[in-house]
Amino acid sequence: MKILLAVTGGIAAYKSLELCRQFIKAGHQVQVVMTESAKAFIQPLSFQALSGSPVRDSLFDETQEAGMGHIDLARWADWIVVAPASANTLAKVRAGMADNLLTTLLLATDRPILMAPAMNRLMWQNPATQENIAVLKQRGILLMPPAEGEQACGEVGAGRMPEAVDIFAYWQSLLAEENNATPLANVFWKDKKLLITAGPTFEDLDPVRFLGNRSSGKMGFAIAEQAQKLGAQVTLIAGPVNLPTPQGVERIDVRSARQMFAAVQQCYAQNAIFISAAAVADFALAQSSEQKIKKQAGQEGLTLELVKNPDIVAWVAEQKPKPFVVGFAAETQNVIGYAQDKLQRKKLDMICANQVGENLGFESDENRLTLITAGVEKALTTSSKSQQAVELLDYIAEVIEAS
Ligand SMILES: Cc1cc2nc3c(=O)[nH]c(=O)nc-3n(C[C@H](O)[C@H](O)[C@H](O)COP(=O)(O)O)c2cc1C
Repeated sequence: MKILLAVTGGIAAYKSLELCRQFIKAGHQVQVVMTESAKAFIQPLSFQALSGSPVRDSLFDETQEAGMGHIDLARWADWIVVAPASANTLAKVRAGMADNLLTTLLLATDRPILMAPAMNRLMWQNPATQENIAVLKQRGILLMPPAEGEQACGEVGAGRMPEAVDIFAYWQSLLAEENNATPLANVFWKDKKLLITAGPTFEDLDPVRFLGNRSSGKMGFAIAEQAQKLGAQVTLIAGPVNLPTPQGVERIDVRSARQMFAAVQQCYAQNAIFISAAAVADFALAQSSEQKIKKQAGQEGLTLELVKNPDIVAWVAEQKPKPFVVGFAAETQNVIGYAQDKLQRKKLDMICANQVGENLGFESDENRLTLITAGVEKALTTSSKSQQAVELLDYIAEVIEAS
């Protein structure tokens, strides 16, 4: 995820270095923006070293393409986190001012904003600040309440900036709420190790031709992204797809079913849950040619000899000990019947029956899954693959916790 971390002029500015580190450690991309006052407290170079990119601090930056840095930054970010947020910046944002890079981009964004105000306790209690806070909340800006305790000025009370780990955890909990995941799923997935396969497999015929299928990988990638947002440690084994790696997810790229099998064999034992969302080819070429196969003069046909590929999900389900195994069954007809048969035959813990066709399933952004365990069927309504992923992760948490 792309995080724009804004630092304003407060004594707690140094704590944002650790916050920056927390985001980076969790696999996010960070761009730091500082106000002029912030630079009186901490050197931009420290943030640059941690985030890997120069700090942005000027509204009128000739080095930025098209001279529209504030708009570009506002669009670039998935989230904007202002920590510490000074009383001054809170007041300016409430008033809708746009007199520096930060206030201008805050006005020019539709991305979620989290602010962590930090100031002297009397500045915090001042009705002007409290009124500003109330108005900002009403407008949908998310505010993390300051911590209480001894302050840099020697006074004691509310106004301290919370520790970086606490701000990071608070932000993660906001992310989870954004996901609509259940409270159970939020607790369950934290630090859980999850292995996912996604996408098609390609079985090479020769250096330029292959047998493949129309799986886009979007469902598996959506599950990986949502699980990571819930705090899971996700390894994603991807067939040949053209999709960006979700932030914080470890990705292993493979091409054929045999390569995918080898990667799964390497990884499955370290994981508590295995979701097999890949459309693995049932058969591979008995022999693939090292050179491009040429058509012979007068040749009217070509017979290909295929051999069975390993059944990856069934293999994992046979292991002892084994992870909780979730399979997928993509079908065009008798979807539930085929899925139930696959669940029993391959001894899976759960199967997601997946209706293909009518703008659903393969290559589509929408899906309609029916989640099936021994004896229980839960039909989801058609929605985006991200939403289906959240509901699947909720249900896995519910089933495992109830067992
Ligand atoms: C030593 C010192 C410490 C300060 N600490 C804070 C603080 O913790 N919180 C705050 O809101 N303002 C604090 N200020 C005042 C801000 O730096 C000042 O209001 C500034 O205009 C904020 O600018 P900015 O919002 O553009 O960053 C402090 C000022 C000084 C000189």
